[in-house]
Amino acid sequence: MDLQTQQKQKAAEAAVEYVVEGEYLGVGTGSTVSFFIGALAQSGKKVKACISSSEATTRQLLAFGFPVIELNEIEGRIPVYVDGCDEIDPNFNMIKGGGAALTGEKIVAQASDKFVCIADESKLVKQLGAFPLPLEVIPKAVEQIMVSMKGIRGEPTVREVITDYGNNIIDVKGLQIKEPLKLEEAINQLPGLVTCGIFAKRGADILILGTPDGVKITKKKSKFSLKK
Ligand code: 5RP
Repeated sequence: MDLQTQQKQKAAEAAVEYVVEGEYLGVGTGSTVSFFIGALAQSGKKVKACISSSEATTRQLLAFGFPVIELNEIEGRIPVYVDGCDEIDPNFNMIKGGGAALTGEKIVAQASDKFVCIADESKLVKQLGAFPLPLEVIPKAVEQIMVSMKGIRGEPTVREVITDYGNNIIDVKGLQIKEPLKLEEAINQLPGLVTCGIFAKRGADILILGTPDGVKITKKKSKFSLKK
């Protein structure tokens, strides 16, 4: 196992502690999450049910014997959502969607109280944008959204994948994302855009990072500080 994979595994194992027994659990998508599902199964911790972010994750969860239900079947909130990322910055804004599951991930993350991000240390960056930004797009809008992305100096390409919802993914290279929230909101306005891979409006709350020195756990800095 290479170093990056080992770091993913360690971060995933550490996330098991954040799972609340007997409660709903939101589960993301990707290779780091696959390690998390395996570690959770091995821990013997029992959840009420999992709310999955993708068909791939649903298959894995069922294979490990976890109960899986649809988000529409629950009325309240999900206490904890565990997922990986493609990039995360010091303010816990992320780029996600490398696995084409960004829409399901954003929906389940938004319904969750705590987003626990699990990643190897290569994912921590000063500024988002070196990883091509994934956009899920309704097929009819692909060309128009490509034009819009070129208009902000992006280099868009269409990925050879169809999402769980029958849509296309456009990957946009060359964006220097100085203001993630502003860019997320602007891209979200484009007609035919289903989901932008910037997760700033709903960023992570806790980062569990696998590093060569072990796992580092950081909480998102609060915007407010107590008066002295
Ligand atoms: C899938 C994602 C993944 O969280 C992201 O691509 C990271 O994947 P991995 O854990 O395999 O590095 O956003 O859409």
